[in-house]
Amino acid sequence: MLVNREISPGIYHVGGIDRRLSRFENMFPLDSGVSYNSYLIIDEKTALLDAVDKSIAESFYASVKEVLGDRKLDYFFINHVEPDHCNTINGILRLYPEVKLVLNKKAFDLLQQFYREEDYSQYNEPIIVKEGNVIDLGEHKIEHIFAPMVHWPEVTMLYEEKSGFVFSADAFGSFKAPDGHLFVDQVNYARDWMSENRRYYWSIVGRHGKQVGAVLQKLAAKEIKGIAPLHGLVFRRPEDARMIIEKYKLWSEWQPEEKGVVLVYGSLYDNSALVCDNLAALLAERGVENIRVYDVAETHSSYIIADLNRFSNAVFACNNYNMELYLPMDAFLRDLMHMNWDNRKIALIHNQSWGGKALKTARDILAAGKNIEELCEPLQIKSSPAHEQIDDLRAMADAIAEDCK
Ligand code: FEO
Repeated sequence: MLVNREISPGIYHVGGIDRRLSRFENMFPLDSGVSYNSYLIIDEKTALLDAVDKSIAESFYASVKEVLGDRKLDYFFINHVEPDHCNTINGILRLYPEVKLVLNKKAFDLLQQFYREEDYSQYNEPIIVKEGNVIDLGEHKIEHIFAPMVHWPEVTMLYEEKSGFVFSADAFGSFKAPDGHLFVDQVNYARDWMSENRRYYWSIVGRHGKQVGAVLQKLAAKEIKGIAPLHGLVFRRPEDARMIIEKYKLWSEWQPEEKGVVLVYGSLYDNSALVCDNLAALLAERGVENIRVYDVAETHSSYIIADLNRFSNAVFACNNYNMELYLPMDAFLRDLMHMNWDNRKIALIHNQSWGGKALKTARDILAAGKNIEELCEPLQIKSSPAHEQIDDLRAMADAIAEDCK
C-alpha cells in the first residue's frame, strides 16, 4: 500500500523516508531521520525527476510502478549524481530499459565514475542537455537551469512552466523526516522545521554561497509558484517559496537573520565554561534576547555553525592544550571557516596556565573571513577567572550588548 501525492496536477511525489540513518553523508547527525523526494510527471510523455537512496529502493520502485500504471517511462531526468539520489538509478533502468536519460555532460561523467560496472549506452542514447534546454512532455515543459556547485558541479534545477514549480535538487531541502505532511503549508515550518532546514544548508550547501547567489539570480527571472527539493517538505504556495528564497538570499551572503549572541567554549575543567556562562548571564541582564551557549567538545559542529550563521554576534573561548589551541576548538574553527563564515562581530576569551598559541591560532583561522571584527580586547584568563576580572567581563558584555541592539 502506497500513498503517492500530487504536488500539482499531473506531478506526483514518489519519494520516501529513512528514520534509521544516524548520520547524513556519514558526518551530520540526523535526530529525526531524512526523506528522499522524487517526482513523476504524467503527461503525453512521462518523466521521472531524480531517484532516491537505496535504503528506500523497494518502496520507491513500487511507487513509480503504481503511478505509472500501464504507461511506459519516457524520460528520466538526473539532476544530481550524489548517491543518496542516484543509487536507485540502475534499478529504474532495469525496470524501464527503454527510458531516455536526460542529464548534462558533467552528470553523465560522474554517473559513470560512481557506477563503473554499468554500461549506460545499453539504455538508449542519453539526452545530454545544455543550460536553457527545454524538454516538452505535452502540457508540461521542463527547462534546465544549471546550478553548478550548489553543491556539486553537475547540479541542475528544473523549471516547469505550467505548474510554476522549481525542482531544486538539494537546495531548499532539509534534514528531518516528515510526520505525514508533505507540504510546508501543512506544518508550523518556523517552529518545527526551519532549524533543520538551516542546519542542512550550513552543512551541505553553505560553503557555496556565491554559487547559490548566482542561481538565485537566474530564478528571479521566473514566476515561481512552488519549490520541490530532493529532501524535506514541498513548498507549494508562492508565499512559502518566497519565504525560503529570502532565507537563501541572506544565507548566501553570510548575513545574520537575527540579532543574538552565540558563545562557544572549549573547557577542560569548566573554568572557561564558567566565564562563558557568566558572560551569557550579563548579556541577558543587558537585554539580549537570543543567547546560545555551546561546549565545542559536546555539540556537533553542524548545530553550532547553523546558529553562528543565524545570529549576529559570537564569542569564542579559546583555551590552550599542550601550548596549542584546544584541539576540538581548533577543528571547530576550521570547520566554521570552511563554510566561509563572514560578516560577524566577535569577542575572544583566552585561557592559558603557562603560555601557548591558542589566541594567535584562533585569530589566524578566523582571519579567513574578510569581515570578521573583534569588538573588544580579548579577556585573558590565567587558569581560572580572578574575582576582579568581573569588571572586564562586564565591559565585554557592554560592548556586545551595545552591538546587538
Ligand atoms: Fe541529497 Fe547532494 O545529495
